[in-house]
Amino acid sequence: MNKVFNRGDEVIRAEHLGKIYAEGRMQTPVFDGLGLTVTAGETVAIIGASGAGKSTLLHLLGGLDTPSAGEVYVTGQRMSALSDTARGLLRNQALGFVYQFHHLLPEFTALENVMMPVLLAGTAVAEASSRATVLLEAVGLGHRLDHKPGELSGGERQRAAVARALVNHPA
Ligand SMILES: Nc1ncnc2c1ncn2[C@@H]1O[C@H](COP(=O)(O)OP(=O)(O)OP(=O)(O)O)[C@@H](O)[C@H]1O
Ligand SMILES: [Mg+2]
Repeated sequence: MNKVFNRGDEVIRAEHLGKIYAEGRMQTPVFDGLGLTVTAGETVAIIGASGAGKSTLLHLLGGLDTPSAGEVYVTGQRMSALSDTARGLLRNQALGFVYQFHHLLPEFTALENVMMPVLLAGTAVAEASSRATVLLEAVGLGHRLDHKPGELSGGERQRAAVARALVNHPA
């Protein structure tokens, strides 16, 4: 069972965060010296023009990419200090991520896609299936459980991705 977070508990903290994409001879600085704290129950919108660095920041906060400078703490744990496995486990248990592009697995149904993080956390199939069903119903997809991503509309795919992000009760 996941730790219960109370309103105001720190969930995410970024300190002096910087990102420079360095591929080959191309250097693309995106931001530098960024600080941010997000607490449980808080709603935060990150707003900026296309290309400003919103996805880059979210990827760093979610441990999907590594910063060029600074640190990210998730539920108090320093991401850079964790092994890949430990970071993956923390992401599975503490965070839910909705990608700009849905990233559902094409060969699995909506139900199976939403069950996946629960199964990876070691929960039994019946429990995973019931939790995934409840969330898919909550996002209005109760009638599309057996559709694969290619058989869903764009918005339906994003709603399935939202259900998948919430299914492990992230912090
Ligand atoms: N892998 C990469 N290598 C080099 N530059 C990149 C890479 N990914 C993104 N960038 C650049 O970094 C900047 C920030 O990109 P990012 O995807 O964070 O923008 P965004 O704010 O999410 O934009 P949008 O609103 O269009 O989704 C952009 O100028 C982009 O061209
Ligand atoms: Mg983006």
